Amino acid sequence: MAQDNSMDGLAAAEIGPWPAGGLTRVPYWVFQREDVYAAEQQRIFQGPNWSYLCLDAEVPNPGDFRATSIGDTPVIVVRDGTGKINAFENRCSHRGALICLEEHGKGQRDFQCVYHGWSYDLAGKLTGIAFKNGVKGQGGMPKAFKLDDHHPRQVRLEALHGLVFGTLSDATPPLTDYIGPEIVPRIARVLAGKRPVVLNRVTQVLPNNWKLYIENVKDSYHASILHLFFTTFQLNQLSYKGGIVVSEAGGSHISYNQLDTKAAINKDYAAQQLRSDSKYKLADPSLLAGFHEWDDGITLQILSVFPTFVLQQIQNSIAVRRVVPRKPDETDLNWTIIGFDSDTPEQRMVRLKQANLIGPAGFISMEDGCVGGFVQRGVKSVPDANAVLEMGGHEAVSSESRVSEASIRGFWKQYRSTMGL
Ligand code: FES
Ligand SMILES: [Fe+2]
Repeated sequence: MAQDNSMDGLAAAEIGPWPAGGLTRVPYWVFQREDVYAAEQQRIFQGPNWSYLCLDAEVPNPGDFRATSIGDTPVIVVRDGTGKINAFENRCSHRGALICLEEHGKGQRDFQCVYHGWSYDLAGKLTGIAFKNGVKGQGGMPKAFKLDDHHPRQVRLEALHGLVFGTLSDATPPLTDYIGPEIVPRIARVLAGKRPVVLNRVTQVLPNNWKLYIENVKDSYHASILHLFFTTFQLNQLSYKGGIVVSEAGGSHISYNQLDTKAAINKDYAAQQLRSDSKYKLADPSLLAGFHEWDDGITLQILSVFPTFVLQQIQNSIAVRRVVPRKPDETDLNWTIIGFDSDTPEQRMVRLKQANLIGPAGFISMEDGCVGGFVQRGVKSVPDANAVLEMGGHEAVSSESRVSEASIRGFWKQYRSTMGL
């Protein structure tokens, strides 16, 4: 991509320059610097992008709420008495305290700030101020003070197949246009017409920049090399039929494959002498005994929406992941592991067993939780050196090969365009 500082010339020049090499080079300073982190908060998270907030099914009834966030901005999502979902900034209009301190709750009729008792209704309107008229004729707010001038900032919402997204910008395009026609049907494939049931929630604290985790999610090249479990138990090999789909803007993707149990272990793997091609056996093979759920034969589909949303289907293990940047070198990864209300008890048991694949101690995901930290530590002293992303070529396009870094290049394409870099 050509250097283009036109969006935000001064700031981009301060942050850059991005190295030459199109989409195939990524400078390590982008994972390290405080000023880059601050600019991302402005341009990406407060900018014209959709951030995943929660599942519609997590706030099923009037008064149900969840505290979530868009980047560093804390947000309350709540269903009001009419059944509508609202979202607003979780910041008191008085002196800025968090309005809501719980992560979730039910039966809420309003929210009251603990600091000085200002209150808000379920639409996020300021409705009351403690001692507004003073006490015994003394003190209180000036007569001219109007509650209507001090409502918390509203968050624009759209939902797609039960996923609730929010944005702080009026310029963000409609959600399905934003996600793109290549990716929307792949969300429908997993979630359309179904009612999710939350089986568990876990947070994995990652010792690395959020973008290293997003790279990892989009990195179909690493999966069967880093993950011993995938290769040893033949869940995912690069020789299986599959592919990657990259959205036109670049930052959203899917990677998928079909399990091919009849295929002999590909001799290409033996030749690579990979750590992941081990002799381990499962004491309880029922962990991998799944059930037929999709007619397309796809047993693994990892999907991301720029900037920080992931939908995962590994066999019958389904989860949504919300990536929350905390500091340049620290990220929270919030997992919501789901089944559906139509599951039989046997299917539910399969999902619970297969949930052992993922999360902080998961047979697969624990390695992803470490490897971003290995990069963060490896590059600390060389901010001006670059990562090399040439596997599968130089472009950010869909392909039937997963021996490719095309979807990572796609992320950087949309990142640089959003950041003006
Ligand atoms: S900061 Fe919330 S009432 Fe004062
Ligand atoms: Fe991985």
